Amino acid sequence: MKSRSETVSIVGMGYVGLCTAATFASRSIRTVGIDIDEARVEQIRRGKAPLHEPQLDTLLKQAVKSKLLEATSDISRAFGTDTTFLTVGTPSQQDGSIDLSYVKNACEDLGNVLREKRGYHLVVVKSTVVPGTTNGTVKRFLEQSVGKKVGSELGLCANPEFLKEGTAINDALHPDKIIIGSNDKKSANRLKRLYRKFYGPRLPPVILTSPESAELVKYASNAFLATKVSFINTVANIAQQIPGVDVGTIAEAIGLDPRIGGLFLKAGPGYGGSCFHKDLQALINYSKNNGYDSTLFRATEETNEQQSNKVVDMAEALLGSLSGKRVAVLGLAFKKDTDDIREASSLRVIIQLKKKGVHVIAYDPMAIPNTKKQLADQIGYADNPYSALKGADCAIILTEWDEFVKLKPKDFQACMKTPNVVDARRIFDPEEFSQLNYVAIGLGARRSLRD
Ligand SMILES: NC(=O)c1ccc[n+]([C@@H]2O[C@H](COP(=O)([O-])OP(=O)(O)OC[C@H]3O[C@@H](n4cnc5c(N)ncnc54)[C@H](O)[C@@H]3O)[C@@H](O)[C@H]2O)c1
Repeated sequence: MKSRSETVSIVGMGYVGLCTAATFASRSIRTVGIDIDEARVEQIRRGKAPLHEPQLDTLLKQAVKSKLLEATSDISRAFGTDTTFLTVGTPSQQDGSIDLSYVKNACEDLGNVLREKRGYHLVVVKSTVVPGTTNGTVKRFLEQSVGKKVGSELGLCANPEFLKEGTAINDALHPDKIIIGSNDKKSANRLKRLYRKFYGPRLPPVILTSPESAELVKYASNAFLATKVSFINTVANIAQQIPGVDVGTIAEAIGLDPRIGGLFLKAGPGYGGSCFHKDLQALINYSKNNGYDSTLFRATEETNEQQSNKVVDMAEALLGSLSGKRVAVLGLAFKKDTDDIREASSLRVIIQLKKKGVHVIAYDPMAIPNTKKQLADQIGYADNPYSALKGADCAIILTEWDEFVKLKPKDFQACMKTPNVVDARRIFDPEEFSQLNYVAIGLGARRSLRD
């Protein structure tokens, strides 16, 4: 007899949940996507992603049309599924520690639904949570609301997510690893079986471990990447003081050493996005509460915070006083191919520019609606890079959008009052731009500028 095919439910249709749901459905796994945000659910039902992510709209349309993905705000729909992934947010509290309120609420709501269920149900924590959360808060809230212990009928795993915004769909379809943290073989095997169905012969390496190790893998991964960014930014700031030195060459050379590796060695205005800062703060705080002060990760964060000052300093060095000047900010998203501005370096730079009395006019191909929600009319918004540059005293490149890479020196010369360019993303060729007042992070001064 053919066995009934496996179904999943996903609680939290944000970046992680929605991309996971769309990719599950694309592999013919019936998926119920659950969110408390009715407007979001309605949009997903119409096959329209509530966030910008390459390939997501196409996958989502197919998934909804084929009815392999159903979006709902009714969590009781999880009852009929075999496995529920928790993908709700885990933001920071005021002191930087993790806020587990969404996780707690989701566990309670799900637990109440599973109360009457007979037969096995697996709950998988995909949200990023500090070590001990799955076996502590999650288990406690679930067991209380379900009215049964985690074990023979109720499975529990920690299964952190590593997808990156901007390449989330590709990452979800081709992860470099799957980490499964569990207390018992049954739940781990169930989850592995689901992933085997998803990936078939292309199943990536699966690491089976304890929930606590799985949880720490995610933090260690983000802390390492963030530290690599702060490291190269530190080298960039040193390189910038030395005429004729370019941090790009330094990064390329050290990256050839396989112990270092070439990725994540791009100097810039500092990391942003919803995860690095939040997760570093959560880890620092968690560690401190356990009696260990993680000096390195505090320095990573401090270096990142200061990097936006560097960008403003560069503009100031070009213009003298910034007060009353018009500065075009090109790029608001924390990286290209996303409309996400959470913790974006652009926001830190803009706040400082405003403090110095600058009139900021910003352009971004995707992130203006999100920025308007946060900054409203504190800055001006342009419809394209050229109108942002019009009459500007300085341009600052803060996101590496392809659209900006195509800009030529003549575009800046033709539009700007004075062609002062701060390339905080290092997207232009310094030789080609040498005819402008061009500076870039990690680029030592040219003779012509110093003379
Ligand atoms: N965004 C990323 O790139 C990324 C990558 C890896 C891991 N993570 C982690 O994954 C988790 C989710 O991140 P995200 O960026 O997708 O978050 P998000 O804020 O984009 O989405 C969370 C969603 O959960 C919904 N939600 C909250 N409480 C709910 C409840 N009780 N029931 C149903 N839905 C509920 C919200 O309405 C929202 O739509 C976080 O822990 C994050 O750290 C994020």
